Amino acid sequence: MSSLLETRAVGAPLSRRDGVAKVTGTAPYAFEHDVPNPAYMHALQATIARGSVSGIDTSEAESIPGVLSILTYRNAPRLASDANPELWILQDADVAFRGQIIGAVIADSAETAREAASRVRVSYDARPHDVVLRTDHEHLYAPEKVNPNFPTDTEQGDVDAAMAVAEVTVDKTYTTPMEHNNPMEPHATIAIYGGQGFTLYDSTQGVHAVRQALAPLFGLQAHQVRVISPFVGGGFGSKGTPHSHQVLACLGALIVPGRAVKLALTRQQMFALVGYRTPTIQHVRLAADRDGRLQAISNEVVELTAKLKEFAEQTATPTRFMYAAPHRKTSHRLAALDLPVPSWMRAPGECPGMFAPEVALDELAVACRVDPVELRIRNEPDRDPESGNPWSTRRLVECLHEGAERFGWSDRDATPRRRDANGWLIGTGVASAVYPVARMPGSQARIRLGDDGDYTVSIGAADIGTGTWTTLTQIAADALAVDPERIDLRIGDTQLPKASVAGGSSGITSWGSAIVAAAENFRADHGDAAAPGDEASGETPENLDDERFAMYAFGAQFAEVRVHADTGEIRVPRMLAVFDAGRIINPKTARSQFIGAMTMGISMALHEQSVVDPQFGHVVNHDLAEYHIPVNADIGELDAFWLDGHDLRANPMGSKGIGEIGITGAAAAIANAVFHATAIRVRDLPITPDKLLD
Ligand code: MOS
Repeated sequence: MSSLLETRAVGAPLSRRDGVAKVTGTAPYAFEHDVPNPAYMHALQATIARGSVSGIDTSEAESIPGVLSILTYRNAPRLASDANPELWILQDADVAFRGQIIGAVIADSAETAREAASRVRVSYDARPHDVVLRTDHEHLYAPEKVNPNFPTDTEQGDVDAAMAVAEVTVDKTYTTPMEHNNPMEPHATIAIYGGQGFTLYDSTQGVHAVRQALAPLFGLQAHQVRVISPFVGGGFGSKGTPHSHQVLACLGALIVPGRAVKLALTRQQMFALVGYRTPTIQHVRLAADRDGRLQAISNEVVELTAKLKEFAEQTATPTRFMYAAPHRKTSHRLAALDLPVPSWMRAPGECPGMFAPEVALDELAVACRVDPVELRIRNEPDRDPESGNPWSTRRLVECLHEGAERFGWSDRDATPRRRDANGWLIGTGVASAVYPVARMPGSQARIRLGDDGDYTVSIGAADIGTGTWTTLTQIAADALAVDPERIDLRIGDTQLPKASVAGGSSGITSWGSAIVAAAENFRADHGDAAAPGDEASGETPENLDDERFAMYAFGAQFAEVRVHADTGEIRVPRMLAVFDAGRIINPKTARSQFIGAMTMGISMALHEQSVVDPQFGHVVNHDLAEYHIPVNADIGELDAFWLDGHDLRANPMGSKGIGEIGITGAAAAIANAVFHATAIRVRDLPITPDKLLD
């Protein structure tokens, strides 16, 4: 495999190429594209959790001036494929969860569409529903695989036997709640039907993924669906796979030909329609000797999926490889409920799956009276305990050492409940972070030398706020050995060569490798004699090292918390992390990814929780007034550092992916700090003041 050994642009703190357009408001987001003859759509949602629609009276809504059409299952165009039940909307009267799309109003203005939607009268035949996740749920089952393709259960050795004879054990259950992705830009689509196919302006993490899902639904060839998405205001996984609103917009475009149908979900609608993080119930067992050396580690997970479609999150997978222990067990059991389909939310699997074990390790450290940094170092495996493969690079111990030094960990008093003069209890905590190095197959890049001597580099990649516009420019510049100013990058359009989604922290690995391959081909084909008009393409190569090495990014997270002894109020004055993420393509945008994810980790630790009403089956706190996330005042000093170096087995750039690792371990570090401050062990997120009052 080729490598970008000589880098000039890569590693430089380039400012965002799209920065000026964004801050001056000229970067069009999906809903803002200037389209001729727009019409506005508002989705109608089911108000029962299970059953069917028995009647829809649209007469009052239809009489409102400006209403163009009302779409229901009775008049909706037929879809050609029911392969994905989440996308199979308006084809029958069935209701699979509360909030499911059962229709839409299309009108001349967004206000009219919304008003008319509120006047559609719907009656239902409701059936009993089941929306509560419990460990004693009568229909828990083992999925065949967990995402994306891992075994559901693993066991090596005998955990029960090790637990029975160990000097020290931890045997506790931890829970993380349902959480919802809340990117700043809501999900939005403009759909235009042109007789031969659709053009969509969409807010998505992958234009080709949207095309791939929509084309067969409408009986079209892929090339008949064009998806354009140059700028995206965040996704965190909820825009990584298409959801039903994109289908709805296309159905609308078919029903009002000649109009560009604009659909933006409201914040409240997003709580039913674009996925969420499953709640998890994690039974963790640790067995160790008196010095904290693990004999056994086990995580048995219960979580939910939707009856409509299976989504099996891989929560226990980090337990399979994080620490050395001869006896190891993991399992996943699902309850299929009458709820929307869960989906990706930043570090699905690793994020909740690093909370429980990393808090359990802190409990073990306390039980053994071993410093929690030292405890992790004592359990460092020299190779992947599961596969036996060597690590491509694993510098977790260095992250722990450097983080401890930068944070001032050596001053830490092992005794909890240090108290200052104003009644604040002060504590510090640590946890490890991890995220796999992922490469998605099949991205292609095209490079063309223009008349002006600039290179046009085309790939249908996505910039969801991560910095792709800038980082791919840097990679292309080094791969062609020219200044970044000579690179004209094109992304976010299915007219460009095919690209994988911005997901699984795989973007730079997948797209960057394709660009490097294209640049190599360009230089091989045209050498120093390249002339305007010369072109070359390249594709993400397979990585044979995937099978031979265990590849992950690692990190160490440190947090200081203050808890008020009388009120239970929790503050996080500072948090610091050190990451082993290979070569950092752009320190400026990378820092944003790290501290953004750490902020989301604080949010997970202290704020986020979607509350499902058992009686009605919807998320009650379905807006940003009641679904809490941190504001500026909740975030203190945040620092992200990284170890210099590269991992050239991961990809030619030597980078390991950075979009998600910053959230893994963050909530555990805070929970561990809360214990150090209060001597109260909170095992159920979020950590709210009521859990800290005696
Ligand atoms: Mo990310 S949750 O893999 O889009």
